[in-house]
Amino acid sequence: MRTFHNEVHLFTKFLTTRNGVLFQQDCLKVLPLIREGSIDCIFADPPFNIGKDYKNGYDDKRQNEEFIIWCKEWISQCSRILKTGGSFFIYATPELNIKFGNILNELLSFRHWIALTMKGTFRRGMRLYPAHYSLLYYTKGEPKTFNLLRTPIPTCRHCKGEIPDYGGHRGSLNPSGLNLTDFWTDTSPNRHRKFKVRPGVNELKIIIPERAILISTNENDIVLDPFGGGGSTFQAAEKNKRNWIGVEKYDCNHIRRKLQEEFPDSIDKPPGFEIENYFQQEISL
Ligand SMILES: C[S@@+](CC[C@H](N)C(=O)[O-])C[C@H]1O[C@@H](n2cnc3c(N)ncnc32)[C@H](O)[C@@H]1O
Repeated sequence: MRTFHNEVHLFTKFLTTRNGVLFQQDCLKVLPLIREGSIDCIFADPPFNIGKDYKNGYDDKRQNEEFIIWCKEWISQCSRILKTGGSFFIYATPELNIKFGNILNELLSFRHWIALTMKGTFRRGMRLYPAHYSLLYYTKGEPKTFNLLRTPIPTCRHCKGEIPDYGGHRGSLNPSGLNLTDFWTDTSPNRHRKFKVRPGVNELKIIIPERAILISTNENDIVLDPFGGGGSTFQAAEKNKRNWIGVEKYDCNHIRRKLQEEFPDSIDKPPGFEIENYFQQEISL
């Protein structure tokens, strides 16, 4: 098994696929070892510090100040390793993404605050009923890749006809679909247990990291996710022939199971790219 080490850190890969490498490790131990300006796209869905039970030992309720200091560290590291023109997406609650945006505004260029419909939340105290999550989209300078995605033209549930109200421009609609907007209504999480790798833990629908990846990368570009969770980013990358580097500190077996199920021909094969090129210290075998 390959081992990556320097004076401070020592870690081994958990699994490889034809397109990716997953490390079971604290992301703050892996990120500092990655070369500056080497990653095309980062997708991060961090813990929200709301006391959620990840069922893996992770303590999701720290002092707020301590949590934000920790977030500054991984956000700064992620910004450092992005290529010029590379993209950084962070999925979080609006309250957290306001704070993350403040950090990012010092480091990268704002592109979008994407609102994603979130059903099934609760209204608390003197607040409105929260109905969206946020996906921040920043780039290092002007984006080097921007692929405009299209979504299916909505149809009437009853007559199945196309819904004709598109701001008075019905005649000029592109038949291949509508321009993807910054308001996503088709991405609510899977509520049914059978779709989850770890029952009880909310994993993102693949469409969320997949859209981020498709907008901002081309085939064989490299995508990094520092908070692997159930592995939705790695599935999206693998499916779309992007190379990927993943990190998850706790149990990675569910990621293995999912990749095994979806990509049986790829799992445990050596990656088709030089992982060593992304690390800034010697690698010994
Ligand atoms: C919200 S989940 C990510 C879910 C993932 N996006 C998905 O769709 O499956 C956050 C993950 O970060 C992991 N985590 C927490 N602290 C970490 C750290 N320091 N380094 C790496 N992973 C960490 C948690 O174990 C958890 O699985």
